Amino acid sequence: MLDKIIILDFGSQTTQLIARRIRELGVYCEVHPYHYVPKTEESLKGIILSGSPYSVSQPEAFRIDLSKLPKVPLLGICYGAQFIASQLGGAVGKSATREYGRAHLDILAEDPLLKGLSSKSTVWMSHSDTITQLPTDGQRLASTETIENAAYRIKGKEIWGVQFHPEVAHSEEGTKLLDNFLAICKVAKEWTPASFVESTVAELRKQLGSDKVLLALSGGVDSSVAAVLLNKAIGDQLTCIFVDHGLLRKGEFEQVLDDYKHLGLNVKGIDAKDYFFRQLAGVSDPEKKRKIIGKGFIDVFEVEASKIQDVKWLAQGTIYPDVIESISITGQVIKSHHNVGGLPVKMKLKLVEPLRLLFKDEVRKVGLELGMKHDMIFRHPFPGPGLGIRVLGDITPEKVRIIQEADHIYISLLKEWGLYEEVWQAGAILLPIRSVGVMGDERTYEYVCALRAVTSIDAMTADWAKLPHEFLAKVSNEIINNVKGINRVVYDCSSKPPATIEWE
Ligand code: XMP
Repeated sequence: MLDKIIILDFGSQTTQLIARRIRELGVYCEVHPYHYVPKTEESLKGIILSGSPYSVSQPEAFRIDLSKLPKVPLLGICYGAQFIASQLGGAVGKSATREYGRAHLDILAEDPLLKGLSSKSTVWMSHSDTITQLPTDGQRLASTETIENAAYRIKGKEIWGVQFHPEVAHSEEGTKLLDNFLAICKVAKEWTPASFVESTVAELRKQLGSDKVLLALSGGVDSSVAAVLLNKAIGDQLTCIFVDHGLLRKGEFEQVLDDYKHLGLNVKGIDAKDYFFRQLAGVSDPEKKRKIIGKGFIDVFEVEASKIQDVKWLAQGTIYPDVIESISITGQVIKSHHNVGGLPVKMKLKLVEPLRLLFKDEVRKVGLELGMKHDMIFRHPFPGPGLGIRVLGDITPEKVRIIQEADHIYISLLKEWGLYEEVWQAGAILLPIRSVGVMGDERTYEYVCALRAVTSIDAMTADWAKLPHEFLAKVSNEIINNVKGINRVVYDCSSKPPATIEWE
């Protein structure tokens, strides 16, 4: 078992960020709802209590019994620090001024938690409460301009609290502070892509034995990395299915299938274009289209799966943010992230999700460790329903062909200009309206194509990418001159929220 740190989540928006920072420092860590009671075990080296949207004094605030926690070093962050202080005999009250944004640390005492931090180090505050009185055995370690107890320690115990957020980028030396906490915990830095691959392959072999496993490939990074990892563990016991619903990008089916074969995967490509186009004919409501595509995918998958005898497992590329998002801090499942919804139950398949502990950037590192091509690993996210939700309104093979051509020009130029990896994702959208234009001496009346490109870190929020005007001019020219059916190109400058990344 790898050494680990456990983070108890009291509902702060930055809890996942704490986990990311710890992992970036090479230490395995897990996020659990605040009421989870970690087991005392050799591998558990430290616990962190996160921030929270609540005030300690609110009746509905999340509380735990600190005495039930294993006796390992404990760090409270923001609400976590206030909660510990209030539980151990201190007091928390409203700040005279609400503390949001930058502040500067005055370090008042030498302590391993603040080792190497410079005086006046910038830290990020985000709270309206403050610790007005430390517990009797509390020692003040640092203050800021406006709060006395910015950092404290409980004397004689391995308990610390900081009222700022070391995990956010604005806290300049926050990572150093977290690294100091890891040193206090004496936790081994053994979380690397290579160690992950090695331990996961061993676990998968043990878990799956000689069972057969089925996996639906999407062409995206998560399912592809999951497949390569499983292939390394169980080889031909794994069957992958890659369905062409006719709504992929130009040439994508052939190219991705070829990549998969080169990776040594046992993969079956299914051409189901006609089936999907038939189901979608005349449907223009976005939700109906999504449902039809989702169901069509399951239908095709089910037929193929039934051809494989004795299959016991369904593998999926679920990743950590999906797992955390699926469980609210009250412990209830709020979202189901199963890509092939309903199928496991119907076919009595057990689920295997080898990436469920990884963040997206970690999945990419594991992919590179497994020897996968750079292009495959750094491909933009692409929605399951594909161009079906980028051809607005009803879908025809001809409209799909038009948008495939425009998208191909756009994406190729992004790559050529070195902009592809600057943006989170990009794509062309075919609008269901036509506009008047003039080409040579001829009047044209053709479709409008919208270009979308966004920057983002997790697709939950996104900003429209500020692509250079000269680049947009070039793309527009190339599309209008080469794609029959489009005579006008517009650029989408809406951020999410209030817009979404996809148009449907
Ligand atoms: P929105 O449009 O909600 O998209 O801002 C957020 C991210 O999710 C992708 N997306 C999907 N991915 N199936 C998927 O696998 C879907 O039905 C789907 N809808 C949106 C979208 O491309 C973006 O990356």
